[in-house]
Amino acid sequence: MSIKNIVCIGAGYVGGPTMSVVAQKCPHINVTIVDLNQARIDAWNSDSLPIYEPGLEAVVQEARGRNLTFSTDIEGNIAKADMVFVSVNTPTKTFGKGAGVAANLEFIEKCARTIRANASKDLIVVEKSTLPVRTAETLEKILHAGDSKYHFEILSNPEFLAEGTAITDLHDPDRVLIGGRQNDLGKAAIQELVDVYANWVPNERILTTNTWSSELSKLVANAFLAQRVSSINAISSLCESTEADVGEVSRAIGMDSRIGSKFLKASVGFGGSCFKKDILNLVYICRTYGLTAEADYWEQVILMNDHQQSRFVDKLVGTMFNTVSDKKIAVLGFAFKADTGDTRESPAIHVVQELCEEHARVSVSDPQALGYAKTDLAGLEEFVTLEEDPYKACEGADAVCILTEWELYKDLDYKRIFDSMNKPAFLFDGRNIVNHQELYDLGFNVYPIGKGE
Ligand code: NAD
Ligand code: UGA
Repeated sequence: MSIKNIVCIGAGYVGGPTMSVVAQKCPHINVTIVDLNQARIDAWNSDSLPIYEPGLEAVVQEARGRNLTFSTDIEGNIAKADMVFVSVNTPTKTFGKGAGVAANLEFIEKCARTIRANASKDLIVVEKSTLPVRTAETLEKILHAGDSKYHFEILSNPEFLAEGTAITDLHDPDRVLIGGRQNDLGKAAIQELVDVYANWVPNERILTTNTWSSELSKLVANAFLAQRVSSINAISSLCESTEADVGEVSRAIGMDSRIGSKFLKASVGFGGSCFKKDILNLVYICRTYGLTAEADYWEQVILMNDHQQSRFVDKLVGTMFNTVSDKKIAVLGFAFKADTGDTRESPAIHVVQELCEEHARVSVSDPQALGYAKTDLAGLEEFVTLEEDPYKACEGADAVCILTEWELYKDLDYKRIFDSMNKPAFLFDGRNIVNHQELYDLGFNVYPIGKGE
């Protein structure tokens, strides 16, 4: 069989960009991305895409109308598919057994049932969502339950793109991971998916494994990445106590090729929809297998991240004479990282909420994320204003907090900002992106992460 029709269920941050790139690189394959959310699909079909991602518009424009379609007709498109990707959300459960830790697999299960009900031939079903190890077993049972006429071969193909660099990550991935059953049918299905990626990914970067290694590797990759951030953040407070500079420490250790230089930037904490939920998921799985020490070990990565966010606010309040009540605090950056409008688990949410508890007047600015900020901060309108213009956000402020590393915040006219602020003027750089000495010379009281003020 050669794959001619691919359907992806879920038109979110992963399904949308990933499948748009598949369509761009494989003009001989029809790619259809389906979703329940009509507004999202309408946006994918418009000039104003539902997510902000550098380079995405050009990819969509190249393929949409040629071999890339966005649709809400889930059933009809599954009936035409040779291969179905499932890229729906797998959030942390908020209810019942495992609430607050386990993954909510409701959406993925529903997809399996929809696929079984609408398939019109044997199908390859690809797990693109991040899932607990051994989820393929559950899918297998649902897909082959009852009077199912067709054979469904399940593959695991986790996605490693990072938001803000999704298109370059997809065009030039470090690796593509494909897991499947190690029998004839499984190996044949793996080969079908290898052939799709081989249209643009060099063979040596396409890694094939058994299903469980692939499912687990995704959780482990995120856990290791997050662990590096928590590790350097744990060192940042020690730097503040000892006059060491965390930037210098990162550089010094990162030059050891065994450690490597990436993911060693101290910050106000990591955010994003996945690190926390995937580690919680890993912790839950370890506990399920009775691996208590292992679960506790990984849980510490999250506890450290929570601590780093609270520590930022504690330091701010402590420095500003132990009260920020009725003081104006400008927050520059609300997205969880630069080059995205996504605010899921953004440390800024936590920081702003804590500042509101202290009755500060918080003015939040962000070039892409104010739409989501409005929802995230609903109920706090008494204390919060949203301001597109960073200069206006800082006008009359007692302190400025930089919480997202947007390029534009590096190049602001800080003299103008300083002149417009109440004195003493404080600046808390939660991303260490501005020149601290220059700001100090302008008159700011400057507090970076992980180095002396
Ligand atoms: P998302 O919330 O942006 O998108 C999921 C989409 O699935 C939504 O549009 C939702 O309407 C749709 N959906 C849910 N149930 C459906 C159903 N039954 N039928 C049709 N559509 C349905 O989520 P996301 O950020 O794209 O993440 C998807 C998965 O990919 C998650 O498992 C996540 O952990 C993983 N992941 C995310 C990233 C990232 O950067 N966001 C990176 C790698 C992996
Ligand atoms: C992360 C992984 O990098 C992707 O490989 C993975 O596919 C994805 O999660 C996922 O599964 O969702 P993402 O969350 O989009 O991608 O962004 P990252 O670049 O990993 O940043 C995550 C958070 O860590 C951000 O808040 C970022 O500011 C923070 N971070 C990152 C630091 O504080 N310091 C660093 O050195 C690096």
